Amino acid sequence: MAKKIVAANWKMNNDEYSSKSLAYEFLKLVSRQNNIETIKIICVPFPFLATINLMCQGAESVFVGAQNCSSHDKGAFTGEVSANMLQSLKIPYVIIGHSERRELFFEKNKDLIKKVELAIENNISPIFCCGEPLGIREKNNHIDYVINQLEETVFNLNTEDFSRLILAYEPIWAIGTGKTASNEEIQEMHSAIRKSITKKYGSSISQKTSVLYGGSVKSVNAKEIFDLKDVDGGLIGGASLNAQEFIDIVNSNN
Ligand code: PGA
Repeated sequence: MAKKIVAANWKMNNDEYSSKSLAYEFLKLVSRQNNIETIKIICVPFPFLATINLMCQGAESVFVGAQNCSSHDKGAFTGEVSANMLQSLKIPYVIIGHSERRELFFEKNKDLIKKVELAIENNISPIFCCGEPLGIREKNNHIDYVINQLEETVFNLNTEDFSRLILAYEPIWAIGTGKTASNEEIQEMHSAIRKSITKKYGSSISQKTSVLYGGSVKSVNAKEIFDLKDVDGGLIGGASLNAQEFIDIVNSNN
């Protein structure tokens, strides 16, 4: 069985004080009602990783993740943060290939696989994002498009490395728009992803791979999405910036 996971993607929001307060509020709610079967990952901006990682120590099934890492291992890359730096802070997860990175920072599949490999070498599990833009869905090419994203990246990993991954399907047109994909659309894509993993790595690995859905997930729609057969949890943006809302989403995944 794949692990149930709900990950928060705080993106570039909040200063240090508000980030610590948000983490504190969340941890307080977790301590009252910890659904320990569901892994909770809070992906925070780089400057707050160390502090929030420390705050989360001792909270069962709560982990901290970064939102990106460099495709280079070290050297003259001003402004970049390496997977090795994250490892030195004991950060266990990193989001790679978020559509905002692909679209706004022009990250290509060939860069993303390097990031994935460096993360794994540094013992960090990537949360690897895939998803189609609206135009591709309107042309009904969404499944081929997403499977191709996986084929050009993570399907090049060996079985052992692939089994370190968490996948997140996020249709770009549903991110931050308030527009969620329908349950049928979500299940259709998750099932196609699951089948493609089975084809490449076999059914045992496929059943153990957590495939999250992301895109305007809120406490009001989380349960019906998480109950879909091939959905193992969510990657939550806007709604994760409110501790109560986020814990309600986490507790919808059981
Ligand atoms: P959203 O973002 O929940 O605000 O739509 C999801 C994401 O970008 O990971």
